[in-house]
Amino acid sequence: MLKINQNSCTNCAACYDVCPYYVMGKEKNTGRVFIRYPDQCRSCGHCIAVCPAGAVIHDSLSLTDFEKASKVEIPPTVLKEHILQRRSVRIYQDWPVPDQALNDLIETGACAGTGANTQSVRFIVITDKSVLMKLEEIVFDICWKAGLKFFGGKGPLFRLLSGKFGPEITSWFRSYHDIFRHRRENNEIAGSVFRNAPAVILAHDLARNPLGAINCAVAMRNMELLAPAMGLGTCWTGYMISAAANKSKTINTFLGLDKTRRIHGGIMVGYPKFRYSLKIPRGMNMQTIRI
Ligand SMILES: Cc1cc2nc3c(=O)[nH]c(=O)nc-3n(C[C@H](O)[C@H](O)[C@H](O)COP(=O)(O)O)c2cc1C
Ligand code: SF4
Ligand code: SF4
Repeated sequence: MLKINQNSCTNCAACYDVCPYYVMGKEKNTGRVFIRYPDQCRSCGHCIAVCPAGAVIHDSLSLTDFEKASKVEIPPTVLKEHILQRRSVRIYQDWPVPDQALNDLIETGACAGTGANTQSVRFIVITDKSVLMKLEEIVFDICWKAGLKFFGGKGPLFRLLSGKFGPEITSWFRSYHDIFRHRRENNEIAGSVFRNAPAVILAHDLARNPLGAINCAVAMRNMELLAPAMGLGTCWTGYMISAAANKSKTINTFLGLDKTRRIHGGIMVGYPKFRYSLKIPRGMNMQTIRI
């Protein structure tokens, strides 16, 4: 049920304007705001959070659960520097990440937006070293075998796949496959995937959600931006994502997920061993098409 309390509503129309799903209507003559298409509501909470009169009544969103928003003033130059100086951290101190810090990261991920407000992203936190080592072996094996299939010969499969991916992506796959080969040959599988990080956070969404991968990425990015402010470093674990895309059943079984879920996001978390004293120039990526 969705209602507007007409006794307190001032007809400011803020809810009408902000609703992403065009749930509210406005009466032509009076301008009175009313609930027009209640079934289109995706429970995003915007109308309740914006209403100055507390006049929106929603079945599944109680006004009492909405905390007062404080005015957060971060100088844009400070925030921009924070973003520009974020680096992917792969070498960690051997210290554990406190539970509170992990919870804070998860909270920022869980509060990230999701396409159509499905709020269907969930998280797995792994801090058990033996579990991480086992998962690392599984991921390594999946990636290695996928590479072997691709690069195992110069036969029709290689031609088909390299034609499909094009030279740029094929050369990227090739260098990763070479890394895996050398790590294998040198008996250096440990640390190849999770870099001996003390914690790994994974994000999964509904396997059939076409926006699942982006939802997970957005959630992860929230965490990646908070982490450095807490003295933590993070790095995406793309091998893990590739393995989950390749052999979702194997990965899901290991993690205790059923087939309705798909791992789309994963970051390592830990205290960085090194500090980067220089910013890496990335200006060339600013080439933009303006239309
Ligand atoms: C992958 C993705 C796709 C989205 N696509 C749209 C869109 O096409 N139009 C739109 O109005 N909002 C879009 N959103 C915003 C979501 O609807 C929004 O995040 C959600 O309703 C929660 O609101 P919040 O971001 O204010 O927390 C998208 C969000 C994500 C993460
Ligand atoms: S909760 Fe979101 S979708 Fe539902 S009516 Fe309010 S603004 Fe619209
Ligand atoms: S935002 Fe609140 S006060 Fe304004 S029109 Fe909507 S219900 Fe009425």
